Amino acid sequence: MDQLAYISLATPGLSEEDIRCIVEQSRHNNPKQRITGHLQCCSGHFFQVLEGPAAALDELLSRLRQDPRHSDLRLLFRHELKGREFANWSMGFGPCSQDTLSADMNRRFQALITAGTASPQRVLALFYALMARSADASDELP
Ligand SMILES: Cc1cc2nc3c(=O)[nH]c(=O)nc-3n(C[C@H](O)[C@H](O)[C@H](O)COP(=O)(O)O)c2cc1C
Repeated sequence: MDQLAYISLATPGLSEEDIRCIVEQSRHNNPKQRITGHLQCCSGHFFQVLEGPAAALDELLSRLRQDPRHSDLRLLFRHELKGREFANWSMGFGPCSQDTLSADMNRRFQALITAGTASPQRVLALFYALMARSADASDELP
């Protein structure tokens, strides 16, 4: 079992409906491949953690690299994993807009985009912080 994270540039003009479609497609496909994960959409970027059997992740990565809904996919890390960290999600989703990010989180996210790499610990710490922030944000919806 492997875990990986990547960041990519969302294609300009993607609508909320387009993003809902991506999440639905993922929730439909991933259980069949025993893939779990979580997707964040932040500041015009996708930030996704995926975990599952190595061969299934390789196949998904090659589909992802050809998907015109994003570009410039950069793998931040990939490592072997004993147990899943996102076991409850066939594909969780946190639509976090830039305005809901604290200045510190925004700075860390921008630094990650610029650097294109970081240790798995730092990447995951930021990912979990974004997940918590987007959960808060969705609580604020009417
Ligand atoms: C940001 C992003 C994340 C995606 N995540 C997944 C995913 O977790 N699982 C998946 O099957 N497809 C995902 N997709 C869609 C794939 O790129 C591809 O379109 C899809 O797997 C094709 O599935 P189909 O052959 O069932 O249509 C994602 C696409 C984008 C743009």
